[in-house]
Amino acid sequence: MTGRQLGPVLLTARGVTRVHGEGATAVRALDGVDLDIRLGELVAVMGASGSGKSTLLNIVGGLDTPTTGSVTLAGDELSALDARARARLRRRAVGYVFQDFNLIPALTAAENVSLPRELDGIGGRTARAEARAALREVGVDHLADRFPDEMSGGQQQRVAIARALVGPRRLVLADEPTGALDSTTGEDVMRVLRARIDAGAAGLLVTHEPRFAAWADRTVFLRDGVVVDGTGRRLEPWSLQAAGSI
Ligand SMILES: Nc1ncnc2c1ncn2[C@@H]1O[C@H](COP(=O)(O)OP(=O)(O)OP(=O)(O)O)[C@@H](O)[C@H]1O
Ligand SMILES: [Mg+2]
Repeated sequence: MTGRQLGPVLLTARGVTRVHGEGATAVRALDGVDLDIRLGELVAVMGASGSGKSTLLNIVGGLDTPTTGSVTLAGDELSALDARARARLRRRAVGYVFQDFNLIPALTAAENVSLPRELDGIGGRTARAEARAALREVGVDHLADRFPDEMSGGQQQRVAIARALVGPRRLVLADEPTGALDSTTGEDVMRVLRARIDAGAAGLLVTHEPRFAAWADRTVFLRDGVVVDGTGRRLEPWSLQAAGSI
């Protein structure tokens, strides 16, 4: 996709390495990853199982910390924040969408979407209004009072996208969000995610399916924790923008 207007950089990763464990059993899940994501941009992440995709999402979303390297989100370097400030930034700026939707079964669609905002200390009335607006943006406001088991998979995933991008949240991290959906519903969910990002957010999308990656502005390939191009060659940071655009 070309010609899209991109906004300022929202997320920067520089030299991010993550080693799990120690000594002989240590696993280098990420090894020197550089990445920039701008507002309005959706970046797909592809790679074999175990290549470090989920680890990358967890680190840029502040759920995990790099062994070395830095992550800057909305102008704040995550490692410079204490755990409490990092959790606050994560709640305000980052939303996750998972393969299995992860909605809370005992809450309605509207309650699932307003919950993170209420946890943020936003008043109930405001949180409910924001939830309604978020559900409307993804086309499921008519399902606001339904419980997750009363919705289809595609509808639940739309609610999860609304929850990820409710209020001021600008970064959506989606780990195989179409993995549990048939391909038609998957395309539908991608269209919604794309539209929501175009309206003023940024996203990182893990997928194994080229047809879903085609909704992204570019694709980053991981192999053994290293960003490579489509041929498996390691890329230098200066060439990422050009070579990563497919
Ligand atoms: N908490 C952990 N402790 C030890 N090793 C871990 C941990 N989390 C991940 N790993 C290892 O780090 C590597 C990257 O894992 P990661 O979950 O990021 O892969 P992935 O690309 O998301 O794979 P998949 O496509 O199967 O979801 C793997 O070798 C994995 O076994
Ligand atoms: Mg994974």
